[in-house]
Amino acid sequence: MSLVELTDLNLRVGSGPSAAHILQDVSFTLEKGTITGVAGASGSGKTQTGLALMGLSPKGAELTGSIDFDGTELVGLPAKRHNALRGTQLAMVFQDPASAFHPMLSVGQQLTDHLRHHEKASKKEALRRAIEMLDRTRVPDPEGAVKKYPHQFSGGQLQRIAFASAVICSPRVLIADEPTTALDVTVQAGILRLLRELCDDLNLAVLLVTHDFGVLSSVADTIVVMQKGRVVETGDRESVITNPKHDYTRSLIESLPGSEVVG
Ligand SMILES: Nc1ncnc2c1ncn2[C@@H]1O[C@H](COP(=O)(O)OP(=O)(O)OP(=O)(O)O)[C@@H](O)[C@H]1O
Ligand SMILES: [Mg+2]
Repeated sequence: MSLVELTDLNLRVGSGPSAAHILQDVSFTLEKGTITGVAGASGSGKTQTGLALMGLSPKGAELTGSIDFDGTELVGLPAKRHNALRGTQLAMVFQDPASAFHPMLSVGQQLTDHLRHHEKASKKEALRRAIEMLDRTRVPDPEGAVKKYPHQFSGGQLQRIAFASAVICSPRVLIADEPTTALDVTVQAGILRLLRELCDDLNLAVLLVTHDFGVLSSVADTIVVMQKGRVVETGDRESVITNPKHDYTRSLIESLPGSEVVG
């Protein structure tokens, strides 16, 4: 059984002539130990799909349909219960790692505060877990890193710390929204390898959102293609890339460098 099942998800914002139908009958699943990549042009609804799962849809938006998370219906779930899932069972990493951290607090303090907000743990135990997570996400010198401040790290290292913070409470679902887009190309591949490792080692159901089809064709197990708020194609990586059904998917594949060898 799928860990997360989105069925006919619809998101509407506003009313009258300015109303926008942002997600239209979006359906797909997330499986444990699997990276599901969502591709699509800017404005196609990728981020809003992730945010709906997190219970963070825009204020006043109307969300209908179903998001079944291991038997719990998330659409219409009271905010308090969604809050409790967020950070513990459902975690998210965003594009800009710098914005994920408070500039004036040490990395160790932020990781331990986050853990202690959700779980009973002594300061010492929380610090031990923070160091363990920084080690897992391959931040150099984890014992030293906890004493440092966000500005003392490069973008790539800070994104690794954001992943450490995302997994410190042992979530089951990890949403990564354009995790490599703001980073130097030289560190992007390392971050994607880290995502793969975390997915495999922690048996996470990963939703990887990106406008970069090249990223998905290298790391996603399953690909979901969105266009204007709708899912136009979904399938395992091999079949989507070698045998795309939709013109839009074909155009994404054709725009890949070296796509002529893909077939
Ligand atoms: N807070 C909001 N209120 C109203 N509409 C919004 C809000 N946030 C996003 N939208 C609209 O929802 C649609 C989908 O946006 P979304 O951010 O999900 O796109 P995206 O696929 O993630 O694009 P990008 O690749 O640029 O990140 C867009 O038309 C956008 O203008
Ligand atoms: Mg987005």
